[in-house]
Amino acid sequence: MKLLNILAVSALFSLPAMAANEATVSLAPSKESPVIQKEIYGQFAEHLGTCIYGGLWVGENSDIPNTNGYRTDVLNALKELHVPVLRWPGGCFADEYHWMDGIGPKESRPRMVNNNWGGTVEDNSFGTHDFFDLCEMLGCEPYLSGNVGSGSVEELAKWVEYITAEEGPMATLRKKNGREKPWKLKYLGVGNESWGCGGNFTPEYYADVYRRYQTYCRNYDGNRLYKIASGASDYDYNWTEVMMKNAGRHMDGISLHYYTVLGWSGSKGSAINFNEEDWYWALGKCLEVGKVVRRHCDIMDKYDPKKRVGLLVDEWGTWFDEEPGTIKGHLFQQNSLRDAMVAALSLNVFHTFTDRVKMTNIAQIANVLQSMVLTKGKEMVLTPTYYVFKMYVPHQDARLVPVQVATPVKKARDGREVPVVSATASEKEGVTTLSLVNTDLKEDVTVIVNLNGVSGKKVEGEILTAANMNDYNDFGQPEKVTLKAFPSKSYSVKNGKLTVTLPSKSIVTLSLR
Ligand code: AHR
Repeated sequence: MKLLNILAVSALFSLPAMAANEATVSLAPSKESPVIQKEIYGQFAEHLGTCIYGGLWVGENSDIPNTNGYRTDVLNALKELHVPVLRWPGGCFADEYHWMDGIGPKESRPRMVNNNWGGTVEDNSFGTHDFFDLCEMLGCEPYLSGNVGSGSVEELAKWVEYITAEEGPMATLRKKNGREKPWKLKYLGVGNESWGCGGNFTPEYYADVYRRYQTYCRNYDGNRLYKIASGASDYDYNWTEVMMKNAGRHMDGISLHYYTVLGWSGSKGSAINFNEEDWYWALGKCLEVGKVVRRHCDIMDKYDPKKRVGLLVDEWGTWFDEEPGTIKGHLFQQNSLRDAMVAALSLNVFHTFTDRVKMTNIAQIANVLQSMVLTKGKEMVLTPTYYVFKMYVPHQDARLVPVQVATPVKKARDGREVPVVSATASEKEGVTTLSLVNTDLKEDVTVIVNLNGVSGKKVEGEILTAANMNDYNDFGQPEKVTLKAFPSKSYSVKNGKLTVTLPSKSIVTLSLR
């Protein structure tokens, strides 16, 4: 394998690497570094397949153990992730959702067809109150996507009033429905994918529509909205350009959607039956988000040099074919070690954009696309992706420690390159957390970490790996991909250097004190 001295996407700049199975990582701690906002670890729950019904919510009368209707196993698992923010009710569903159908007595709520997702009949039994209760139970911020495509300005304005006003007609209705005190609502999305399922707008037209809608979304009684414009899909830089130019001063954030997907027509490939070439292709595609975010940020910098407006990657993750035998349109896919790699590499990239990327939301929290948990009846499995989010909890709201990485790279299909080693680090309350990824399917790598003043007196670690690249956790089986203690014989500290033997296809997080 040819050794390259590259600027890895997870690095600020590079150092020469020594041999094919060696890499160096240099930590550059600085009190001036930005904080990795915890919202980078955001989640997304859409009325799609069994994400809400069956995944999060089973109702009080279910024989599946539940807490006020919410699955107890899923709630407990999610609490471990310290979910900072949850986006709801879509996705494409948001632009067909009429919130008033989801309040009041459940038995008299209107039903609707979920046209985007398999034509399933939605009974509206999970609505605004249920969502806000869930956020309270998880201790996370709610993030609402408002209906622009098939709704009205009045409908969205009244939703904000219903949720956040102390008094007035909407507050009276809310009180009648059992909630005396208003909730706090910070994150409000004005439409979703307005270039596609959210209305097929041109950017010029949507910019005007956005300006109009956001005008009537008021700040009631001390609540302060953070207004988010519907943004581009991956490579659509013109959308960001027009939006920033025509509406930039009316927004607090603009979104970006980026999926690790083969394409939008035809097969997307299996989540679990794939070969080595597919492994490197997926990792290369996910890492490309760094270049895509860079270009969107450059456009935003032109119109907003002070970086007041956040870029929110509010949908990202893998998108494969649905599992055979599952309902078409429900986007139920398995989750392998490859998904864990995509999660870790993407998060490592997002950490390098903390000055502009203020939130990301992996799609989705349960039973849809790259989920945290999968459920089948009473059973639940934690996915490999779940374990990455668990392992990365210490990075939430920690100060970024910039890293320089010198690593060999692998060539992937479509001319993409995949660094063998990716790294990210942060510091909070005297503990430095270093996450290292070895993407190589065959070779262990020796990583020399130049600590540059970071204490290595006490080092502890966890590892996520598996025997095979396509191992996954299945219902009723012992977990194949799970967190384990990283053996102390795999690392040593000497003369300000930490030497780590990083097993092939593994993700390791070390805490340094
Ligand atoms: O996450 C699934 C779908 O992907 C969302 O509904 C939509 O916004 C995107 O196209």
